[in-house]
Amino acid sequence: MNIIDGKYVSNIIKEELSERIIIENINPGLGIILVGNRPDSKIYVNMKKKSCSKIGIKNFDVTLPENVSEEDVINEVEKMNNNNEIHGILIQLPLPKHINEQNVLSKVLLEKDVDGFHVQNIGNLALNRLNNCFAPCTPTGCIELLKRYNIQIEGKNVVILGRSNIVGMPLSFLFLHNNATVTICHSKTKNLKEVTQRADILVAACGRPNLITKDYIKNECVIIDVGINKIQCDNEKGYQIVGDVNFKDVIDKVKMITPVPGGVGPMTIAMLLTHTVEACSKINNKNN
Ligand code: GUN
Repeated sequence: MNIIDGKYVSNIIKEELSERIIIENINPGLGIILVGNRPDSKIYVNMKKKSCSKIGIKNFDVTLPENVSEEDVINEVEKMNNNNEIHGILIQLPLPKHINEQNVLSKVLLEKDVDGFHVQNIGNLALNRLNNCFAPCTPTGCIELLKRYNIQIEGKNVVILGRSNIVGMPLSFLFLHNNATVTICHSKTKNLKEVTQRADILVAACGRPNLITKDYIKNECVIIDVGINKIQCDNEKGYQIVGDVNFKDVIDKVKMITPVPGGVGPMTIAMLLTHTVEACSKINNKNN
């Protein structure tokens, strides 16, 4: 079978975390801030809350209206910074346009930055000083999947499509630190196919439904599809979730591939839970 099953791996990680919470006798808590009414953000936050409850992490969630001021969002962050029951803080992105995301993210206490979006944590990631901080969850989940499937990273040509602050940029650092040769492609890249055809590992994180077809890849390529795109179709729901890769077209040519859904998505949540437990465990060890 050439499927990299993120749902399966994430369930194993969740079981490991449940056990760890019991063995270490800790009470991890995650603060979640959701601003506005984006349906996709609401779905993601609900999935995160449900996963927390399932493994024994307490949620502290706050929902703020679309027109809330930047100052009021920062106030909520500061309350969570000062709450001893909260060990990790997640601010669901994107925030409404009138709020400067960096201003808000940089108010999160470094040791509670389980999303790894604080400017200082991005710096630590770039310098490979991750002992005391967290890398963003989706990139960490991609690397964790490759490691759990024993797919070698060192020495491989890795091509990443997309340079976002949440996925492409931080993931490029993680691959570099794992000794891969990394190329990042984006909307201005010339001769994209020529670049992607050189990839031993191709990560698609550009938000373009079904962009990657078999003519973009070489035989036996490993594909990590980070895309989550809603497209119209004539099933009962009227829509379907697809990745940035045309799964059916490439499946017979790839060595391994993550499906959408059930690939990277569940791993993002598993990494958030891991970071929250880790943050709680560290504080607990410091206090004992
Ligand atoms: N929006 C899209 N992906 C993410 C993520 O990993 N974390 C947060 N906080 N917001 C997101």
